[in-house]
Amino acid sequence: MTHSSPEERSPVLEIIGGHRLSGEVRISGAKNSALVLMAGSLLCSQDCRIRNVPSLADVARMGEVLSALGVKITRSEDALEIDARHLSQSKAPYELVSQLRASFFIIGPLLARLGIARIPLPGGCAIGARPVDLHVRGLQAMGADVQIEHGTVHACIPGVNRRLKGARIYLDYPSVGATETLMMAATLADGETILENAAQEPEVVDLANFCRAMGARIRGAGTNTIVISGVPSLHSVDYAVIPDRVEVGTFLVAGAITQSELSLAPVVPDHLTAVIAKLGAIGSEVIQETPNRLRIVPGASRGTDIETLPYPGFPTDMQAQFMALLTLSEGDSIITETVFENRMGHVAELNRMGADIRTKGNHAVIRGVPFLTGAPVVATDLRASAALVLAGLAARGTTIIQGLHHLDRGYDDLEGKLKLLGAQIRRVKGDAGAESVSSLPVMPRS
Ligand code: EPZ
Repeated sequence: MTHSSPEERSPVLEIIGGHRLSGEVRISGAKNSALVLMAGSLLCSQDCRIRNVPSLADVARMGEVLSALGVKITRSEDALEIDARHLSQSKAPYELVSQLRASFFIIGPLLARLGIARIPLPGGCAIGARPVDLHVRGLQAMGADVQIEHGTVHACIPGVNRRLKGARIYLDYPSVGATETLMMAATLADGETILENAAQEPEVVDLANFCRAMGARIRGAGTNTIVISGVPSLHSVDYAVIPDRVEVGTFLVAGAITQSELSLAPVVPDHLTAVIAKLGAIGSEVIQETPNRLRIVPGASRGTDIETLPYPGFPTDMQAQFMALLTLSEGDSIITETVFENRMGHVAELNRMGADIRTKGNHAVIRGVPFLTGAPVVATDLRASAALVLAGLAARGTTIIQGLHHLDRGYDDLEGKLKLLGAQIRRVKGDAGAESVSSLPVMPRS
């Protein structure tokens, strides 16, 4: 009797390619904003409501991390009700943090609220080592004593005051997470903190607006210099997460790669300037139908070059999806990944589908081919899994995608949304006992 591997027993996505899509997609709230806003809710000891929260495995896991700290969290529809008044535990459980890098962002709020935080190092993942030195050095500049022992970051505020001090901090790299950690920590510090060379991503701005709605004093979010004046405490908030710009970009590419016209809403078009410009260079037009609704009108795709950069440059989270599109574009393209050191896991899988991609370090040279063919492939990380779905939609024949736990971390019902557009896509359950989506951790519902 042959024993199948865990990957083989888990659910897979089956996609029959070559079908045009049509219709409108409803975009969910942004994963990379919802997760950090959940961390930010620790800053206040009153009720917080966060709306437009996507249904994702990562959101469920972040909910478990907060619950482990003594936070009461319930979900009703698309809203999270969070009550951190009884925040008591300063140590986050390793088995949860190791599964969700974003949970490391709680270190800033925890330290600011309790004066102590013990967070396991999140460790690396498929796309890179993911160090946290910028977070640590920034907290040290604010007066925290931070030691890393046995894989855990021990941070505490020495002395009786138990409050961080405002500081002028230059970030060697405009790290999104470090900017968010330090901005949150600074909201309750004594004095003024200036973050220089700060990240400018829309999710950073969303977090700043969330904190300001709780009474924080923050200015300059969205630029490379953010100034935070500490306040004694923060209060209740009811806040809606911005739309997910990476989900929007993924569906725009779905339209381009299947030569289909699609409408997407709600969208903040300004969050996608680089993505829309690149789609135009490749041959697809993106029209703003209303202030928060986009429509893609595809054209014949031609090769172009892409270099991923911190915002407002081309987003690394759209690199894999655009590579899928460029495999079918006329001519050669070069993609350079400058943000993460190992974000090319999707190349080998796309080549299994007949793509012609060669990599050298963080460069990929893509030679357009007339068609892709369906094949069994394995997703290596979240955005690679989205790229394989997009390739499967355009390929001739059937594509079977394993590794759906990656996809379920970051997309809210991607296959359901694609099905509504006419895609031939279905989730095929593995053997009995295989982990399926229904077994994902579920937050208590109110
Ligand atoms: C956030 O990760 C996003 N995740 C990522 O989205 C996104 O790709 C990334 O920002 C860049 O936009 C969340 O918001 C939960 P970084 P983050 O700190 O904060 C180096 C997705 O697919 N670095 O800006 O971890 C780091 O190694 C995910 O949705 C340090 O060297 O990204 C990387 O090379 C993937 N030291 C670069 O900076 C540090 O202390 C960018 O990382 C921190 C980061």
